[in-house]
Amino acid sequence: MELLLKITSLLKEIKEAKISSQEELEKFRLKFISRKGVIPDLFEDFKKVDGDKKKDTGKALNELKVLAEKKFHETADQFKNNGQPNVSKGEDLSLPPVQNTLGSIHPVSSTKFRIIEIFERIGFNVSDGPEIEDDWHNFTALNFPENHPAREMQDTFFITRNPDIALRTHTSSVQVRVMESQKPPIRTLSPGRVYRNEAISARAHVFFHQMEGLYVDHNVSFSDLKNTLYYFAREMFGKDTSVRFKPSFFPFTEPSAEIDISCLLCHGEGCSICKHTGWVEIGGAGMVDPNVLQNCNIDPGEYTGFAFGMGIERIALLKYQINDIRLFTENDVRFLRQFTGAY
Ligand code: DAH
Repeated sequence: MELLLKITSLLKEIKEAKISSQEELEKFRLKFISRKGVIPDLFEDFKKVDGDKKKDTGKALNELKVLAEKKFHETADQFKNNGQPNVSKGEDLSLPPVQNTLGSIHPVSSTKFRIIEIFERIGFNVSDGPEIEDDWHNFTALNFPENHPAREMQDTFFITRNPDIALRTHTSSVQVRVMESQKPPIRTLSPGRVYRNEAISARAHVFFHQMEGLYVDHNVSFSDLKNTLYYFAREMFGKDTSVRFKPSFFPFTEPSAEIDISCLLCHGEGCSICKHTGWVEIGGAGMVDPNVLQNCNIDPGEYTGFAFGMGIERIALLKYQINDIRLFTENDVRFLRQFTGAY
């Protein structure tokens, strides 16, 4: 038979060969690959092939040799692994697929997004400012007198020897930046990270997040402030939530108030979260002090405004009934996984 035909029929035979035992594998080896096997013989015959057929025949012969060796090695590997595909290369195709693990939105972020969504519905936009801030925007423009004890309330972290530059202690600094660069009407929210040099505990941290709100226009009144915060508390915590305003002091607002909501954990009965008062503080608020408007080149004779500032972690603690602020920054996935899809 012509050599090429012989090779073609052997190719078919090898492709179709069923090897189901070690014995059959050895027979296969002897028949095709071993020194006395068919393939080495064919290479001998190949030497006698005529010039014009050499190219095609040589190609087919090589193909045959590669195929036979491949089949032999692959089958041998399978038998080595008890019939399983080769795991030594780190691939075990019989294993179940590894699930993709998806991250979740951090509870502080989801709380922030929720607050923004609630205020966006009544016309507030979002504004941003730097975390490294100068004295003017963090204190002076906000009516903190120089060397006044009110500055100490804020426990500032200074990051250079220059006392003019510090990590912002509150997002009220963004109020100033917005009023300096925009004309009323202004209705803006400023979320962001703030820093305080205090002892870390379950209730306090050296960095946390605040949401500042500012509304400046003609005839903005204290009742606008109250109604806005009533609306917010109902949307955020549920329609049965009560809000109360307690007189307070901030240099940048006059009058100033602390905002309390009825405790979501004990519903007013008294628990450790509300220190048995039935109320929890969520932030401060007030009418923007005329001096602050003036400092930002807004005429206090023409415009009035209200402002408020809330701790985002504090709201998240209440919303998710978490009792330790430190959990938010420990990055323990067992904690974070609980918030999958929470927003
Ligand atoms: N900046 C205040 C703080 O960090 C919170 C605050 C109080 C913001 C009253 C305000 C406000 O805008 O009107 O404690």
